[in-house]
Amino acid sequence: MISIFFEAAFFKYENLKNMMDPFELYNPTKLIFGQNKIETIGKYLKADDKILLVYGGGSIKKNGVYDKVINALKDFSIVEFSGVEANPKYETLIKAVDLANTEKVDFVLAVGGGSVIDGVKFISAAIPYEGDSWEMVKNGGGDIENALPFGTILTLPATGSEMNSGAVITKVSTQEKLVFSNENCFPKFSILDPSVVVSLPKKQIANGVIDAFVHTLEQYITDSNKSSFIQDGFSETILRTLIEIGPRIFKDSSNIELAEHFMFSATMALNGLIGSGVKQDWATHMIGHELTVTFEIDHAQTLAIVLPGVWEVMFDEKEKKLAQYGRNVWGLKGDDRLVAEQAIEKTESFFHSFNVLTRITEYSEKCYLVWEIPPRIKERGWKLGENRNIDSMKVEEILKTRL
Ligand code: NZQ
Ligand code: ZN
Repeated sequence: MISIFFEAAFFKYENLKNMMDPFELYNPTKLIFGQNKIETIGKYLKADDKILLVYGGGSIKKNGVYDKVINALKDFSIVEFSGVEANPKYETLIKAVDLANTEKVDFVLAVGGGSVIDGVKFISAAIPYEGDSWEMVKNGGGDIENALPFGTILTLPATGSEMNSGAVITKVSTQEKLVFSNENCFPKFSILDPSVVVSLPKKQIANGVIDAFVHTLEQYITDSNKSSFIQDGFSETILRTLIEIGPRIFKDSSNIELAEHFMFSATMALNGLIGSGVKQDWATHMIGHELTVTFEIDHAQTLAIVLPGVWEVMFDEKEKKLAQYGRNVWGLKGDDRLVAEQAIEKTESFFHSFNVLTRITEYSEKCYLVWEIPPRIKERGWKLGENRNIDSMKVEEILKTRL
């Protein structure tokens, strides 16, 4: 049995100064959740569609997912593309686009983690795209007019890519790891079978918990004056759930009940709901992507490095919300400043509890390369954070705190 420590989070209406930001919430992805759902995939496909089946480096062949998919699709016409790497590369994906065009496929099926799913978003959008598909990514996806329909079978709870319209693609030759998104890039369906968690290496479980945790925080530790009862309540529940089940599933990935909570938390953390009507930060992610490009550090590990630095440097703006987080999520008591500081410590210790290191020097001996990052931020003219006030100089300050 799972016992989640839910101290009631009381929200009080005290003449709040700021209403929610107006928002549109659109999410057409059908979630198919539960054990043995992979076997039912045929129900969600058109019988005469030619399918491009895309997967990664072969984990699905070892854990039986590939056999389940092939068996379930035995009456369908399939073309396979494998070898999509972690932090999917434009240079690889463009080959899948060529294959899809040559084979005239009608539907793309991603079987994998966030990298394979993101890769498939790129492939699906690039197939009908007229012009240079890297420009499509550089434009942030804004000019994508349509995409080939695609579905996903998720094998790693982490990114939320299975129920959002964003993707992160790396171009090796220019050292760019960039985000694009577009309403045409939602999966038609995503199959979430929690039993896929059993075969995950511990490192990937840690990465998944931390990525989902930080997605929630990037949409929650922002403006304390916003009226956001629903968003904060959902966010705090996701965070408490991950704190409760994360360390347990890290120890025992065979517990399907824990795997269900882990999987649903990660999906809910980045499907648009908790970010509606509130300010969103994402500085940690954008700086993290630069660390991945520079040092090849895993995505979630970069977040564990950067987040405490963003909070330290932006402490004054975030103090109140950090204090709310400290009280409602970690059960801390005291004045705002103390609770906010302790909440930062608790968060970093939480990352350490998964054996994840949080300093750049712990990952690379060439940490001087980190100083290539601020000029890149400057050249792109990026202003990060919920108040768009984290420029290249602030990024430098943040990185200095994380050596
Ligand atoms: O390639 P295979 O052989 O499949 O192995 C993968 C890979 O080595 C393995 N794996 C996946 N499922 C497994 C498994 N091994 C055993 N059993 C299973 N069931 O795990 C390794 C990592 O997979 P990957 O897909 O790279 O991990 P993750 O899901 O963490 O995705 C990371 C990528 O997603 C992007 C990141 O930047 C990064 O490129 N993100 C995408 C987001 C989005 N689209 O919304 C948001 C995130 O913030 C993130 O930026
Ligand atoms: Zn992430």
